[in-house]
Amino acid sequence: MIKVAEFAHQLILLSLSHATLGVDMTVGRGNDTLFLSLLAKRVVGFDIQEEAIASTKKLLAEHGCTNVELHLADHTQLDSYVHEDVDVAIYNLGYLPSGSKSIMTQTGSTIASLTQLLPRLTVGGIVSITCYPKHNPEEAAAVLRYCQRLHGPSFDVIKCSVVNKELAPFLLQITKIAPLT
Ligand SMILES: C[S@@+](CC[C@H](N)C(=O)[O-])C[C@H]1O[C@@H](n2cnc3c(N)ncnc32)[C@H](O)[C@@H]1O
Repeated sequence: MIKVAEFAHQLILLSLSHATLGVDMTVGRGNDTLFLSLLAKRVVGFDIQEEAIASTKKLLAEHGCTNVELHLADHTQLDSYVHEDVDVAIYNLGYLPSGSKSIMTQTGSTIASLTQLLPRLTVGGIVSITCYPKHNPEEAAAVLRYCQRLHGPSFDVIKCSVVNKELAPFLLQITKIAPLT
């Protein structure tokens, strides 16, 4: 079975070998944060659950990562915490693995945070979004629609999906190809 979240890392590495600022919009257990901490000079991460922040701190400490700033905060607060341009950002939507299934990303805040993030993405920068139609079909459909409507001259969006499994997770990778006009 293809692990879409791991595939997301490989796809990012096809375009970026280093970055100044990476943002993990959904920290969870920290696998994406760890990946970003190896790619970017500085990483900022957001999660609304203390359990996620605690387990990610532990993972980062085990790997000796010292370039990550974690915030127990909603990713819609991006503008309050990040004032620089962003080179790479990762969303892994849904709920905390081995955590409560009652707390998961929501369509409104996911789209609102994307709308804050995209203007400050550098040209050549990437936003990777793993979507879970099985867990939150409404959010997955809304994020896909949002990406399909992004301004073509400024963004390319790749969609990777497992075509023989209807509700399998899918990946959207947004690349900023030109400044917003
Ligand atoms: C699928 S997990 C992320 C997996 C993670 N990136 C990893 O590598 O383990 C989704 C996470 O998003 C978090 N989340 C949900 N809504 C959020 C929001 N509005 N802002 C930030 N994090 C949110 C959840 O608490 C959960 O930990």
